Amino acid sequence: MKRIHACCLLALAVALLAACAQEPPPQEGPPYRLLTDLHQTMEWVLEPAAEVIWDSAGFIITADGEEDLSPDSEAAWERVTWAAATLGESGNLLMLPGRAAGDDWVEYAQGLVSAAEGALQAARARDAQALFDAGGHIYQVCRACHNQYWPEARDD
Ligand code: HEC
Repeated sequence: MKRIHACCLLALAVALLAACAQEPPPQEGPPYRLLTDLHQTMEWVLEPAAEVIWDSAGFIITADGEEDLSPDSEAAWERVTWAAATLGESGNLLMLPGRAAGDDWVEYAQGLVSAAEGALQAARARDAQALFDAGGHIYQVCRACHNQYWPEARDD
């Protein structure tokens, strides 16, 4: 009885060792893989999403008079909803490890999440004035981070 026990233990130990040898080294965190560098994230994710929001708020003066840019259909409000969600989540992308360029970076990224949340709520409530206000907040966050971390943008 005692001998079978030892034998079983040995078999178990061998099996465990074999399993260990085949296991890849443990991953640290989820295996995400960044597809775009910061430049491209700005140009292809943040900017297009923000443009949808800015182009859907306020008024412009045209030859024919004042034009209200507010979404005028369910489809238009839906597009703003998607853009606000994309923009908010892109704030989270800016917080991925390795992206922060300094101490205040995460604060700006959080500011972007909050400002986009405002746009998302406005879009879901179909509230044109709140969307306009959120668009302003978003613009301020973009500018604030650029002022600090993108020196070439200071003059624009
Ligand atoms: C947390 C900081 C941060 C926030 C927030 C941020 N940006 Fe940027 N952005 C940068 C930095 C840094 C660069 C310069 C990147 C580079 O080109 O190396 C940049 C560059 C850009 C560029 C130029 C990309 C290019 O072609 O060189 C665009 C466009 C841009 N940002 C749009 C936006 C918009 C729109 C927002 C707000 C919705 C925003 N960014 C918010 C940090 C930020």
